[in-house]
Amino acid sequence: MRVDIVHPGAGELAYEIRGIVDFADRLAATGVDIIWENIGDPVAKGEEVPGWIRDIVKNVVNNGSRSYAYSPTKGLNEAREFLARQRTEETGNTLKPENILFFNGLGDAINKTYTWLNPVARVLGPSPAYPTHSSIEGAHGRSMHLTYKLDINNKWMPDIDDIRSKVKHNPTIAGLLLISPDNPTGAVYPREILQQFVDIARQYELFLIADEIYANLAYDQEGFTPLAALTDGVPTIIMRGLSKEVPWPGSRCGWLEFYNLHVDESFDRYTKSIEEAKMTEVCSTTLPQIVLPKILGDLRYTKHLSNRRQKYVRRAEEACKVLNSSPAFKVIKPKGAFYLAVTLTDKFIKSKFKLKAANAKAQKLLDAELTKIPEHDFDKRFCYQLMANTGVCVVPLSTGFNSYVPGFRMTLLEPDDKKFTDTLSKIVESVSQPIC
Ligand SMILES: Cc1ncc(COP(=O)(O)O)c(C=O)c1O
Repeated sequence: MRVDIVHPGAGELAYEIRGIVDFADRLAATGVDIIWENIGDPVAKGEEVPGWIRDIVKNVVNNGSRSYAYSPTKGLNEAREFLARQRTEETGNTLKPENILFFNGLGDAINKTYTWLNPVARVLGPSPAYPTHSSIEGAHGRSMHLTYKLDINNKWMPDIDDIRSKVKHNPTIAGLLLISPDNPTGAVYPREILQQFVDIARQYELFLIADEIYANLAYDQEGFTPLAALTDGVPTIIMRGLSKEVPWPGSRCGWLEFYNLHVDESFDRYTKSIEEAKMTEVCSTTLPQIVLPKILGDLRYTKHLSNRRQKYVRRAEEACKVLNSSPAFKVIKPKGAFYLAVTLTDKFIKSKFKLKAANAKAQKLLDAELTKIPEHDFDKRFCYQLMANTGVCVVPLSTGFNSYVPGFRMTLLEPDDKKFTDTLSKIVESVSQPIC
């Protein structure tokens, strides 16, 4: 090429949650039965979308042509008006319909949020991190994503001293990101922790981003504080979407909510540029926006969500009990979302653990794969061995979630009780085998 055509941030793009699938497919071809625990898609995992939700979608698709047409760039008025009303009621902080912007899934919104930020302005995010945030923010800043610690020894709560110190010593940090309920840890941040984010942002004139895509899947809804309830006077972006809670990830529907635009001209201009970027794409998918008020406003929706939360609570309790019985693992019980961050203990890591593959062909594949994974990515090496041995496909925390603690993420989504119990047993039994 006459000119180097590779984006300077390209090296920061990674999404191991799907990357691991290539190895899983090759293993499956050798006869290993894969148990997919890598992706947070409740529908793909077999959760039923209730009939009444399907009926709402069917009626809209079959009656009239609106769902086949473009929608306004910001999103349909009726969807934004519904959300503005509902969110204002929930938080006590007025959200105007014009300050909501729809996207093709929250992944699209996250991409635009970092892509249209001045390249020298950085957003400090959590470690472990949801990879779309860390990858895109890193690519935007042309270097590794800057992180603060979620403390495994303090129930995965953000280390506030770490945040303060990083913000104080790095003047390029313009924003703070938090995810609550969090992926992958399942932590839900109490009011006092959120208040400290707000205080730091106010002191250092930062903006806040809260990814709350799992808000309605916090197990104790009373105990969940939406950040918008506290951000009096601090420029804030709240991220929400339909993928996880309806659940309907295939709808590709998420949105941004902008708060306190008036307090900072630069924040106001920045959010306008995100909207202008969306305008160059015309708009986001229309169908989910038409049905959003009908689904989220239906009396049956509350019950539907509470049933789903109850299932995840049961799964989390069982998983923590079984996995914590092994000296190899340490698990903090999640308080929301549908993931489990299983960390590997020092003792286990020091044991130079090695697992055999389920058959000779799988062993050949595994051996070839392990030559490409450095020794220090112990958790990734473990995940590949676990998959080759048991078929259980989980995502390493270090390379998949930019985590300072080694481990893996699995889900709480399995609809079949027995299959879930069997999967847990397979994981625990795999680490009780003699070292090969
Ligand atoms: C924390 C978090 N934010 C955003 C997303 C992206 O969701 P969407 O399907 O709306 O793109 C996910 C998906 O797993 C997620 O876990």
